[in-house]
Amino acid sequence: MDFTPKQRVRAALKAPSSDLQRLCEENTTQVLDLLYVARRSSELGAPLKQAVWSLLEKNMRVLCAASSLGWDAKKKHAEMFHRFSRFILVFQGPEPLAENLVAFSMFRFENEEEYCVLYCYELQVNEEMRGMGIGRCLMNVLECIGSEWRMQKLMLTVLKANKNAVKFYATVGFQIDVSSPTNFGYKEDYEILSRVLEEEDFDFEEAPPNTNH
Ligand SMILES: CC(C)(COP(=O)(O)OP(=O)(O)OC[C@H]1O[C@@H](n2cnc3c(N)ncnc32)[C@H](O)[C@@H]1OP(=O)(O)O)[C@@H](O)C(=O)NCCC(=O)NCCS
Repeated sequence: MDFTPKQRVRAALKAPSSDLQRLCEENTTQVLDLLYVARRSSELGAPLKQAVWSLLEKNMRVLCAASSLGWDAKKKHAEMFHRFSRFILVFQGPEPLAENLVAFSMFRFENEEEYCVLYCYELQVNEEMRGMGIGRCLMNVLECIGSEWRMQKLMLTVLKANKNAVKFYATVGFQIDVSSPTNFGYKEDYEILSRVLEEEDFDFEEAPPNTNH
């Protein structure tokens, strides 16, 4: 039996962090003494939330404030720590302590139009740790998680002015998504990118009551 995109998202939302943690461990290499940890928003303590927020603010505040997205700290904070937000946190050292946080990704399982997707809201690596493969590794983990819960795409939004991120996403295999404003002739300052996880023609309409005819 197959499942509709809505059913898949409902199932993924229930997945315990321990299941995501297993995929982190199977799909990361033990280099640079890095620890990858999967948590739900509700499983982050106050110090970790603060460390996540500080890294995000340091990397993104100025860029977002200058864009159409803007920087509304209250709204952004609520989005970040929404109950459906999930995190892959990267620590340098053996302990998942706030002071050891060097990178993270925040994502959610969602329905986007007719699709079920793993939407990557944030990918943040602290400046001193960039260019070491952490961003690629995080995207790889997200891909494995998305595939495991049978999401159809891995999606994200990137500001065109964020040239480094645009190059990074192209390098790790993202393309402009069909839903991106560019495809409708709009000149927005952001692009929606995606990577297909499951190639399938979906037709989930209810079968007619009598399928013998
Ligand atoms: C974008 C970002 C996440 C990339 O993470 P990273 O850990 O530095 O990237 P990696 O080291 O894993 O690089 C992976 C590949 O992308 C390429 N790449 C990364 N940054 C690049 C850049 N600025 N220009 C060109 N290529 C780049 C690398 O060369 C590498 O290619 P290779 O594996 O073939 O050698 C990181 O720079 C970052 O956190 N930036 C600030 C926050 C941000 O803009 N986040 C994205 C918001 S949408």
